[in-house]
Amino acid sequence: MVSPFVVTTPIYYVNASPHMGSAYTTMVADAVARYHRLRGEPVLMITGTDEHGQKIERTAAERGIPPQQHCDEIAAEFVALWQHLGIEYDRFIRTTDPRHLQVVNDFFQRVWEQGDIYLAQQQGWYCVGCETFYDESELGENHTCLIHLKPTEWRDEPNYFFRLSRYQEKLEALYREQPDFILPPSRRNEVINFVAQGLRDFSISRLNVSWGIPVPRDPEQTIYVWFDALINYLSALLAPGDEPRLEVALQRGWPASLHLVGKDIVRFHAIYWPAMLMSAGLPLPKRIFGHGFLTKDGQKMGKSLGNTLDPWQLVNQYGRDAVRYYFLKEIELGKDGDFSEARFRDLLNADLANDLGNLLNRSLNMLKKYRDYSIPEVTIPPDHPLKVLAEQVIPMAEAAYEIPNFTQAAEAALTLVRSSNKYLDSEAPWTKFKQGEQQQVEMILYAVLESVRIAALILAPITPELSLTIWRQLGYGVLTFADLHWQDITWGSLAAGQVPQAPQPVFQRLG
Ligand code: ME8
Ligand code: MG
Repeated sequence: MVSPFVVTTPIYYVNASPHMGSAYTTMVADAVARYHRLRGEPVLMITGTDEHGQKIERTAAERGIPPQQHCDEIAAEFVALWQHLGIEYDRFIRTTDPRHLQVVNDFFQRVWEQGDIYLAQQQGWYCVGCETFYDESELGENHTCLIHLKPTEWRDEPNYFFRLSRYQEKLEALYREQPDFILPPSRRNEVINFVAQGLRDFSISRLNVSWGIPVPRDPEQTIYVWFDALINYLSALLAPGDEPRLEVALQRGWPASLHLVGKDIVRFHAIYWPAMLMSAGLPLPKRIFGHGFLTKDGQKMGKSLGNTLDPWQLVNQYGRDAVRYYFLKEIELGKDGDFSEARFRDLLNADLANDLGNLLNRSLNMLKKYRDYSIPEVTIPPDHPLKVLAEQVIPMAEAAYEIPNFTQAAEAALTLVRSSNKYLDSEAPWTKFKQGEQQQVEMILYAVLESVRIAALILAPITPELSLTIWRQLGYGVLTFADLHWQDITWGSLAAGQVPQAPQPVFQRLG
């Protein structure tokens, strides 16, 4: 069996409704998954919800309802939003799923057998929002968490610890030998610097938190929510009906190809998680990509601060593809980005309505006028400028999607589109038609239509619906995304005799 391309999002805390930040990583993962599906690879896109721990326990208590009921309600909101955004995930894992519990127990057992778990006294400042202990030097005034801007809490209790310190050298070797293990390079450097200061063991259980998975062999304690949550990447691999054991999950697609996370949780994924896996004797994920923050007035947008943007409203107002295009193209993956409604409109009007939409529209209209509406049979010279350009941008887009860098992938498509518009202007087929140069006219029209076709396919992981609409107008009977194939990207695939549909604006200008 070919092992699938496995791409994951963080599992989101159910402390509040999903917002644009949660949607951001999920859209990124969906676009990555779509690119690999286009290439014909088996793909597993995994997302889900992180439902244990003190933060969730407290949130439910504040609402005065049982924690499981609270989790069920919020998890359903995540599912609904993903549907609204057209996210095609293959697995949705909830950490309160009993199958997950079994896999966590199996994992804990392996680490225990390595002698990597011991009981000791935990003292320190704890941020419930982050579910993390911090050093004083990492906190603001009055021991305030710099992410949640709330006071941390002093803890002093016996906990089980994981011997992270034992893995310092192995981790350092990993970062050295696999420079692409953590991307982008700025994040990698942060991790390397952090590890260089020396790794300390961390506590993986809590004494006074009942909302969690009991520690095997000591039910007084529950497993620390992060230790529990990271193991989702294994339990999520289980197919429906599988026996819920670690061994079975591993065969379904471990190691993961790509863990997509925000920069707030890179440390957990690039340090704790590989060390846990090393201890359990399991292969490591191939890549951790730590993207930047969506910000509002310079602050991280988040559930805890409540300064969020509502993805439902954005999608209702502008449509899925517009929202996807803005967040994937405008904010280069890895960098922080502010949302601006003015910029949103400008970008979509410029790229999708003007450049792409107009190119399709005017070429189809000319095809109607000058060629009675069917794709002409032409011979394109090997050095035709649009052919040459297409053959340059296709590998650029491929390389960009592998990283992933959607800004570059989209830019590759738009470069072809813009050049095609200029080419039409300078070749002026309308004049050539009047002069009776029918062959020339047909060659020009074929070349620009071929460019739109290729550009739409390049954009398909980012704007799936728009790309399908364009292909339909070009006369393809593509019904769903599964009818698109990256192998058709090759210049010259547009078949002579194919009959396009009547041109209709594919992207309505935003007023
Ligand atoms: O950390 N900009 O869950 P969480 C960009 N349960 N991305 C953002 C964002 C923003 N303003 N806000 C949130 C947790 N995100 C843990 C994860 S994984 C084993 C456990 C995204 O609900 C981003 O991916 O706080 C960030 O890392 C994640 O949501 C945090 O989600
Ligand atoms: Mg968070």
